[in-house]
Amino acid sequence: MTAVRFLGGKGGVGKTTLAAAFALRQAGEGHRTLVVSTDPAHSLGDALRTSLSGEPRQVAPGLHAAEISGEEQARRRIAEVAEDARHAVPAEIMPAVRRHLARAADSPGTVESALLDRLTELVEQVGTRWDRLVVDSAPTGHMVRLLSLPTLLTPWIEGLARQREQARGVDRLVAGMLGDRREESDPLLERLHARRARLERMRERLRTDALVHLVLVPERLPLAETLRAADTLTEAGLRLGTVVVNRVVPGTETGVLASRRAEQQQILAEVDARFAHGGVLHVPLLPGLLTGVEELAELGGTLEL
Ligand SMILES: Nc1ncnc2c1ncn2[C@@H]1O[C@H](COP(=O)(O)OP(=O)(O)OP(=O)(O)O)[C@@H](O)[C@H]1O
Ligand SMILES: [Mg+2]
Repeated sequence: MTAVRFLGGKGGVGKTTLAAAFALRQAGEGHRTLVVSTDPAHSLGDALRTSLSGEPRQVAPGLHAAEISGEEQARRRIAEVAEDARHAVPAEIMPAVRRHLARAADSPGTVESALLDRLTELVEQVGTRWDRLVVDSAPTGHMVRLLSLPTLLTPWIEGLARQREQARGVDRLVAGMLGDRREESDPLLERLHARRARLERMRERLRTDALVHLVLVPERLPLAETLRAADTLTEAGLRLGTVVVNRVVPGTETGVLASRRAEQQQILAEVDARFAHGGVLHVPLLPGLLTGVEELAELGGTLEL
């Protein structure tokens, strides 16, 4: 049983609903489960009909939920970096450093890598605090990017560490010539090495312990997006789990829905042809609001992922 599951796909296909339902199923089976949303436009709380924050909160027996945010994590991280800088740079340039960091806190790269950091923290808790982690992802592009980040960031961090080491090499040389042979620790360099090691662990965790379930509705554009995402994720070293086709019109329908069903059948055939080996699950178009623990748990009962 793979412990970490991502649900991803085009906007509006049912990721949040299915993630919450699947998480309730896992919790119902006795696994300590955490469901988190990484989508900046959070709706996990709405789906569960409760309010959520960045800290996991119990929402049903055995189930905790949280909505994590890159912005919030970035602010925390910038505070840490400012603290490192205080030791590493002369006091007179600290105001400039602080101004620079304040701007960096809002930059897109910082926010997305901070989100990855928070997700990494939670993934690292799987096995101790949680048995299962279900991630309600942002729409496809964002999710693919987030899951590719450990690979993308590694060479960048390595470059930073190399530059820092070179700069320290010069410092040491000068200090040596001046007769000062003390070895000073370098919190910045230590943090870079620690970060590199964490990214490496996350990459490995994602490869071995995680499945990405692509969700789509049986229509042309969602199918095209799903096919592209499947290739990109596989290239990034991630494993695909059962593909979920949501809102499939049941065969008993008549009228408008019957013609809809005929169109859907063509797409379903294409989905089956491409993803048969990994498994494809059809979820019917359902009546009802599909929110709240009770309704979602019922849906979860049908989700064999
Ligand atoms: N099988 C289904 N039958 C009927 N309605 C559904 C089904 N699955 C999801 N819905 C409804 O479709 C809407 C969109 O679902 P949801 O919010 O889960 O999608 P999403 O992929 O998370 O969207 P976003 O990309 O905006 O985060 C919701 O109102 C949800 O209740
Ligand atoms: Mg959603």
